[in-house]
Amino acid sequence: MIALAADHGGFQLKEAVKAWLEEQKIPYEDFGTHSEASCDYPDMALPACRAVVEGRCEKALLFCGTGVGISMAANKVHGIRAACCSDHFSAKYTRLHNDANALCLGGRVVGPGLAVELVDVFLHTAFEGGRHQRRVDKLSAIEREGSR
Ligand code: RB5
Repeated sequence: MIALAADHGGFQLKEAVKAWLEEQKIPYEDFGTHSEASCDYPDMALPACRAVVEGRCEKALLFCGTGVGISMAANKVHGIRAACCSDHFSAKYTRLHNDANALCLGGRVVGPGLAVELVDVFLHTAFEGGRHQRRVDKLSAIEREGSR
């Protein structure tokens, strides 16, 4: 199950990605927003990210105008490793090396064609583990032990 969330700036792109997920028969849960009315990206990110860290969803696809604000919100949630990407290489390597569990896309940055390519590679690339596991473990240690 894939968690989807967007603010108004990412709403149209979320809808385009949702149509592609349906074509691919990939199940999703849409945590909103459901219109272009102005809303606040942290409010939309939180329930989708909770679904991931609680194990109800495998990964999150998050959308705002730039992808940046909603990635900042997502990365405040312990257990989320969110990557804001607008190129194929980053979307692939954030899975291979960072075990990212949330992909953030900018509705004012990428078009729907590129967005579904980024989502496709993100959803279908496995974490490499090995030396990268040690680094991901250190990210988790910062969450557990704090940054000071
Ligand atoms: C909303 O206008 C916009 O600020 C938001 O979608 C996002 O781009 C923030 O990072």
